[in-house]
Amino acid sequence: MNLLAHLRIETRAAHRALEDELGFLHRLDSPARYAGVLAAFLGFHEPLEKALDASIAAHDLPWELAPGAGLLAGDLRGLGWSSARIASLRRADPPDVAELPALVGSLYVVEGARLGGRLITRWVGEALGPVPVSFFASDGDVRRRLRRFGAVAEHVLTADQAEAASAAANLHFRIFGEWLRAVS
Ligand code: HEM
Repeated sequence: MNLLAHLRIETRAAHRALEDELGFLHRLDSPARYAGVLAAFLGFHEPLEKALDASIAAHDLPWELAPGAGLLAGDLRGLGWSSARIASLRRADPPDVAELPALVGSLYVVEGARLGGRLITRWVGEALGPVPVSFFASDGDVRRRLRRFGAVAEHVLTADQAEAASAAANLHFRIFGEWLRAVS
């Protein structure tokens, strides 16, 4: 089994739990509630991306993060939030991604989440009409990008590190879920 398939299977339950928790996104009743979700995502993504960038550099991983926190901030500004309000948002303690398997596990969650983002974009549009969705909509071919990430990850990770990567991916899901509950 390739690494991506392994990660998908091992994190299926954690994904389903988070999906249930965010299911309200398809019946959003106000742009303010949507902005609250973007703000919660930003509070997690911004410190996470810093940690991921540092670890990518430390491991010389041939991978570049896709824009995330910047898009979230742009969407919030589009919804009328000032830069000061965005800057004052609480930030999360991100998962520890210093070790290579943890880096791969977290990057898998970040990259994979963009697949679900397409569906969320549709839900938000149906519920609220035209609101800024650049974070969830993601540019480009997200499925192809995830496959490319899988190839990079397989190249750098030894087979016996796959378990540590899926444990890290599960931990990432858990910490993110706890963060969403804490700020909502
Ligand atoms: C309401 C919330 C969500 C929905 C409806 C959703 C839905 C989906 C869907 C439909 C896919 C599969 C796409 C496909 O294969 O065609 C997917 C994949 C994925 N999602 Fe979500 N998602 C949600 C939230 C999240 C969140 C918050 C995260 C991460 C923090 C996440 C992480 C992932 C990952 C890692 C994959 C890739 C699975 C794979 O290996 O193929 N999802 N999601």
